[in-house]
Amino acid sequence: MCGIVAGIAQRNVVPILLEGLRRLEYRGYDSAGLAVIESSVIKRKREVGKVSSLEALIKEEPISGNIGIAHTRWATHGKPSTANAHPHMSGLKVAVVHNGIIENYAQLKELQLERGYEFTSQTDTEVIVHGIYEELKTENSFISAVLKATNKLEGAYALAIICQQHCDTLVVCRKGSPLVIGVGIGEYFVASDVAAILPVTQRFIFLEDGDIAEIKLDAVKIIDAKGNCVTREIKQTSLSLDAVDKGNYRHYMLKEIHEQPDAIARTIEGKIINGRVSEQALGHSASEIFDYIKSIQIIACGTSFHAGLVARYWFEGFAGVPCNVEIASEYRYRSPVLSKDTLIITISQSGETADTIAALGEARRLGAKYAITICNVLESSLGRASDLVIQTNAGPEIGVASTKAFVTQLTVLLLLVIVIGRRFKLPKNLEAKLSSELANLPAMVRNVLALDGEIKIMAEQFSEKHHALFLGRGAHYPIAMEGALKLKEISYIHAEAYPAGELKHGPLALVDSDMPVVTVAPNNSLLEKLKSNIQEVSARGGQLIVFMDEQLVPNDDVNLKIIKVPSVEDEVSAIIYAVPLQLLAYYVAVLKGTDVDQPRNFS
Ligand code: M6R
Repeated sequence: MCGIVAGIAQRNVVPILLEGLRRLEYRGYDSAGLAVIESSVIKRKREVGKVSSLEALIKEEPISGNIGIAHTRWATHGKPSTANAHPHMSGLKVAVVHNGIIENYAQLKELQLERGYEFTSQTDTEVIVHGIYEELKTENSFISAVLKATNKLEGAYALAIICQQHCDTLVVCRKGSPLVIGVGIGEYFVASDVAAILPVTQRFIFLEDGDIAEIKLDAVKIIDAKGNCVTREIKQTSLSLDAVDKGNYRHYMLKEIHEQPDAIARTIEGKIINGRVSEQALGHSASEIFDYIKSIQIIACGTSFHAGLVARYWFEGFAGVPCNVEIASEYRYRSPVLSKDTLIITISQSGETADTIAALGEARRLGAKYAITICNVLESSLGRASDLVIQTNAGPEIGVASTKAFVTQLTVLLLLVIVIGRRFKLPKNLEAKLSSELANLPAMVRNVLALDGEIKIMAEQFSEKHHALFLGRGAHYPIAMEGALKLKEISYIHAEAYPAGELKHGPLALVDSDMPVVTVAPNNSLLEKLKSNIQEVSARGGQLIVFMDEQLVPNDDVNLKIIKVPSVEDEVSAIIYAVPLQLLAYYVAVLKGTDVDQPRNFS
């Protein structure tokens, strides 16, 4: 994803901007660039590849200045290239860096071409900088010119702009994409992510949607979406300089579980525009790929495989898209049959899982034309071997047990269900509903995290146990599988998951008073069937721990222990119910005294 860093100071800002870009590298990018005003002239450097390449270029051809803007780009419109890298300029007088997507850029471009503007890139960003240049012809105030130009934009953006005519002023604005102003002593810095400028300040102004700010060395003026001059509070961040710090949490795993609302928010950031999922925001080749394909084959391992299994229910159930899910380590050894128009989707937190990489190679060999990956690390091997990478943006996952990677994978999969489903049988009203539920996901996950204390107490039921069963139906069956995997991986309790309807076909024989049976029971059309399965367990003295919708009335069965989960819409409930199961596994492992973040047998 793209990243912005900018600054105005009495010192040379270039090293600070470069350090900021380095701190945004975890978000993934394909090119980087920087522009400063040096002796009243805008000087720009851009490079494809790593920030270190840009740094080397600047070392060779030094530039410096007290005001500047910088960017890491992740291609959406136009391939990764120096010409497409930001900053973009107009008439060598204005330079802009941009995060987001301008939806009406084609119309604006046509008008600007008629006016004689030249385009040197394939991006949607050049129309912004030409628009500002045009307004500056008649407008003396820099901020007013930017305001007039941005009023013509449709879509999502965060911008930082410098202008030769106004070399003491940095203008920044945001609509639909985040931007913060870091307040230093006699200097200001701007970034799309607080982490980028933590080395220079811990005091931040969080711009609100629609804000535009004029930043000079001695003051910041902010105008809100209604055109009013406003004062925004300066907040001290509690974030530490070290992004992989455990903070106040005892384990990384618990920290990562609690980071899930923010991780999901980052994953959907800039992808839902005016209530609609933008496929352009998924990458510049997204539409071409989705137009071509007729079915889907998901390939992954472990937790990522479980995410794929959930998605199969969504792809087929919501949108009628034929979908298969394969364990990567089996794929190359079983002679799968594949057609050219089957889209391969690999899912991986690391992007480096050998089985998944090999399976992708096999799928290519079998003739798959397109492969995309859902991955937390853009520059990974899977990323490089795929036609499109959709990054989960979960941030570094240090705990071996995957948590925030899983929910963000599910989030991306739901985005894909919408954009691919549009070409199949996804009803319009369901698309709108799913998009709105996606936007509400961070808040829903925050609500369910409030169960933390209750689940910690419930975990005591497992302290003496050696085995557990997990049950679910529909899309909650893979959630039960994921719950069982989490429990066995970090607490070393043997756990197995079954679709609840399968109990009577064998596993019921295992049930006795020593066997906890964890059941996922959302309020959906399968609930009545699930209740019968719960009865089957209870009748055999099994101890049931049921994660149940808060609106349902539990019966007074003594074998039943209930955790009431906040009510959610059924379409996204699989994502929500994954969270309490993670907490359960975590607290059981803590009680057992295992090495939660690095369980045995994993290096
Ligand atoms: O990096 P990947 O997602 O490709 O890793 C695949 C599995 O090894 C991984 O999901 C594993 O199952 C989890 N860490 C378990 O919590």
